[in-house]
Amino acid sequence: MNKIAQIFETLEYGPAPETADQANAWLDSKNRLFGHFIDGTWTAPSKTFASTNPANGDKLADITDGTPADVDLAVAAARSAFPLWSGLSGYERGKFLYSIARMIQKHSRLFAVLETMDNGKPIRESRDADIPLVARHFYHHAGWATHLQREFPDHVPYGVCGQIIPWNFPLLMLAWKIAPALAAGNTVVLKPAEFTSLTALLFAEICERVGLPKGVVNIVTGEGDTGAALVNHSDVDKIAFTGSTEVGKIIRAATAGTGKGLSLELGGKSPYIVFEDADLDSAVEGLVEAIWFNQGQVCCAGSRLLVQESIEERFIAKVKKRMANLRVGDPLDKSVDIGALVAPVQVERIRDLMKRGVAEGAVVYEPDGQVPANGCFLKPALVTNVSPANTLVAEEIFGPILVAMSFRTPEEAVALANNTRYGLAATVWSENINLALDIAPKLKAGVVWINGTNQFDAAVGFGGYKESGFGREGGREGMSAYLRPKWEKDLTPAPAPVSVPAQAANLLDTGHLDQTAKMYIGGKQARPDSGYNRPVHGAGGALVGEVGDGNRKDIRNAVEAARAALGWGTTAAHSRAQILYFLAENLDYRRDEFAARIKAQTGEDGSKEVAQSVERLFAFAGWADKYDGAVHNPPMRAIAAAMVESLGVMGIVAPPSRPLLGSIALIAPALAMGNTVVLVPSERSPLSMTDFYQVLETSDMPSGVVNIVTGESLSLAKTLAEHDGVDGLWFAGSAEGSEMVEKASVGNLKQTWTSRGLYYDLADQRFAGDYFLGKATQVKNVWIPYGA
Ligand code: NAI
Ligand code: MG
Repeated sequence: MNKIAQIFETLEYGPAPETADQANAWLDSKNRLFGHFIDGTWTAPSKTFASTNPANGDKLADITDGTPADVDLAVAAARSAFPLWSGLSGYERGKFLYSIARMIQKHSRLFAVLETMDNGKPIRESRDADIPLVARHFYHHAGWATHLQREFPDHVPYGVCGQIIPWNFPLLMLAWKIAPALAAGNTVVLKPAEFTSLTALLFAEICERVGLPKGVVNIVTGEGDTGAALVNHSDVDKIAFTGSTEVGKIIRAATAGTGKGLSLELGGKSPYIVFEDADLDSAVEGLVEAIWFNQGQVCCAGSRLLVQESIEERFIAKVKKRMANLRVGDPLDKSVDIGALVAPVQVERIRDLMKRGVAEGAVVYEPDGQVPANGCFLKPALVTNVSPANTLVAEEIFGPILVAMSFRTPEEAVALANNTRYGLAATVWSENINLALDIAPKLKAGVVWINGTNQFDAAVGFGGYKESGFGREGGREGMSAYLRPKWEKDLTPAPAPVSVPAQAANLLDTGHLDQTAKMYIGGKQARPDSGYNRPVHGAGGALVGEVGDGNRKDIRNAVEAARAALGWGTTAAHSRAQILYFLAENLDYRRDEFAARIKAQTGEDGSKEVAQSVERLFAFAGWADKYDGAVHNPPMRAIAAAMVESLGVMGIVAPPSRPLLGSIALIAPALAMGNTVVLVPSERSPLSMTDFYQVLETSDMPSGVVNIVTGESLSLAKTLAEHDGVDGLWFAGSAEGSEMVEKASVGNLKQTWTSRGLYYDLADQRFAGDYFLGKATQVKNVWIPYGA
């Protein structure tokens, strides 16, 4: 065969290296030594660590390890820049974001090469995915800045945002954090990941070049302890973190009780579901993107292949064939598919996980061929013969390792897909759009890609369910994560509850024994597990009744009942509205009785509170079918349907005051949005809500949707916070109680809202709308491509 024919036969590539000259020249111009970027100037380098190129081990530069004093300086700079920056018009801020976008585009190749050298990802990806998306984010948010007042009236920025990012998409994660923060009027202190700080430092130069006011963006480099100093800084108003679930939990606990805003974008173990009617060749290409993009170091990597049994053999054969064609090597080579992992420690971590998986029975397939001997390279691998309990199925590997399992029916696919503590993303392949759209809402994940994968856009929210974190980045949801209602900072402490000396009463002879109010669990009246009751005293101290003294066991039963009733979330919004209207009507019908009960407990005329409660039920009945999603238009032939979904089971601990409205104002939005509820009514005055279950029973409310457990608020709140079957928890009570709730919520990273000892006037109309609706929901973005 002649040479050309041979080339056609083997399809061997020659090397096609991208030059590193400009990136090296830039590093040389900095003497390969960096301080922090604080208050618009570069600090003198102090104790440093090396940033290396993981493809060859070469040291690229020395970087300063930020101390708490450095963090202090940066936060102070951000604080003093805040009035000026937030005081600019949205248009003025938008122009700066636009200039940044333009400069990124202008220097895109330099950014791409530097990113590839520092991180090890193929130049094809940094050039064609990372950097274009970075520019897109700044453009998109330039627009949000301009329209902020119109779109988010009466909202204000948090102030100083501490932002901590990982190493897998260094500049892209910076853009996801900085663009919306700045658009909203916040100033920031950002800490890049220790392995990959260089493009953030180049970005700081761009900030200088566009004349961004000093102190608006501060970059402090360093390791985990530098990040911790930022998290724990008392003058930071919001923390935004992307990284491991483990560190996310540390940050959740560290910020508990501080009132700092928090968004967490954490790990994943995302399912990649292939049905038998899928276009298999496309699904194989998608899979390459899902698990071998960025060496699999992607939080939303499609790392769990779930393939329908009928096509399993055929599909796996295609995958193996495709794996043999993946080229592992020099990331600066334009025709390389898989580059280097970020650091030796990650390679070791992955090897350890693989060893454990194999010891547990996994079978590993790797294609033939060599990977470069030096540098952090791993072959792509396919793991089979695993049970759901295998380490490689359960743990986030964060490497080029695909784990495959099979399923028979769509139901089984959904069950397997959701059988994980994570919930970041999912992919569904089927040519049957009915099937795909039936499956998508059933997947507990913040993003679902249909017949595609790893699609991102600044206009489309991204973020997780469950232990993948909370909060969204991108789109309207992402913007709102950097804003808060103006009135929030004017809240004042809730008045201390008036303590009235209880009149002595013989516990055995209350005269009310036959009227002890039961708890309400799974649509049935329930006696407390403890076998004890609690007295309820009126304003004058007289005994006005008794309720059950609920405990951990009662909460567990109530959560179980609420989980069994989760079908409420998928009943038509119109039906939920009907039932809420009916509740309002039936409560109104018994208004005198409820008013009298309020008076007995609080001494106040209760008729106004009853009327407000009826109105609030009416208001949220009206919202049930209106607080809904959007259809986004990303720049490709696809739509992204932003679907508003319930959190699931919500624990709601009502405030001590306003025995009826205090509970109704919180359960009504939760129910309207399809959550099921475990309610702990006012500890002091629980009788209004134990009366309320009669209203529930006459209003066609399905069993288990509302469960009522009376007792001591704090201990019941703690049990709810620790319970993994609870997806969201609202706590209206003391500052200490709020801190406890937030700390105790780390187990499954449930979303919390706490009143932190502040007075929320729940009768105010501001609570009749999106304030609580937003907190009772999470947005799932379903990407659907179109075109023949
Ligand atoms: P990591 O979560 O420790 O690092 C992320 C960022 O957090 C870095 O900037 C780091 O300096 C900072 N950090 C570390 N400890 C901190 C603390 N106590 N307080 C504040 N900031 C802190 O992730 P790491 O150790 O680099 O990677 C380990 C594993 O985590 C990976 O193998 C992967 O499984 C997972 N991971 C997931 C990411 C995702 O996007 N889902 C990103 C990075 C890592
Ligand atoms: Mg590096």
